Amino acid sequence: MHQHENAAEFHPSKDDVFGRIASRYDFLCDLFSLGIHRLWKRRMAIVIAEESWLTLLDGATGTGDIILRVLSHKLPVSRRITASDLSHEMLTVAKRRLGARSQVQLEQLDAEEMSSVASDSVDAYSISLGLKICDRNKALAEALRVLRPGGRLIILEASNIPWPFAHRMYLAYMVLCMPAIGWLATGGDSSAYRYLLAGIREFPGAELLAEELRAAGFIDVAFERLSLGIVAIHTGRKPAYDA
Ligand SMILES: C[S@@+](CC[C@H](N)C(=O)[O-])C[C@H]1O[C@@H](n2cnc3c(N)ncnc32)[C@H](O)[C@@H]1O
Repeated sequence: MHQHENAAEFHPSKDDVFGRIASRYDFLCDLFSLGIHRLWKRRMAIVIAEESWLTLLDGATGTGDIILRVLSHKLPVSRRITASDLSHEMLTVAKRRLGARSQVQLEQLDAEEMSSVASDSVDAYSISLGLKICDRNKALAEALRVLRPGGRLIILEASNIPWPFAHRMYLAYMVLCMPAIGWLATGGDSSAYRYLLAGIREFPGAELLAEELRAAGFIDVAFERLSLGIVAIHTGRKPAYDA
């Protein structure tokens, strides 16, 4: 088991970085990923939309980017989505972007402790680019608890390029360029890229995360690398019956 359960060492009670950058978050995503996050999110939304669920809970939803894309798949109206985030400011942006859609409800939830969500109550749980800034042991335990037996977990997160030299080059590029770009774009608010860099460096590779998911209790664990492995989409299922 990986030692740093919170890869980015992000503690929301100490630093409200997402509150500060909420209105610039989408611009920063484009900048930091050179726009490529749009491809990852499009793929993530396809994986989510193709799954059969009536209730979806999206954790750490941010500005609602994934849910907007899921909705573009013209879902049957019987499908219900809860888009949740810890940050009130992020949810305010999400609310503006998602508009008044009866299919979607917004909720302020801590992915590490979603006590207001009943156990075994959601068909699918998704989290995009959020697991590396949470204590992922807690977040995965909560995902497993709220999913109904047989329910589906879908994660988009930073990963590893499977060729070690290429992965080291990618990290070196990020370490060199990110602070300069990030400092300029945020007007000197270094938090935004510090957590991102730490999270990318410390988050487990795809095989290791798959192992962690199995150790956490998920079955049918699989993953798909995107952009050579810079990110990956992991899926898993809560066992249908207690063993
Ligand atoms: C990098 S953003 C990802 C946003 C969005 N899912 C996306 O793909 O663009 C991370 C989000 O996680 C939220 N967050 C951080 N810690 C959290 C926690 N413990 N529980 C729920 N959300 C959290 C932040 O407020 C932020 O909106």
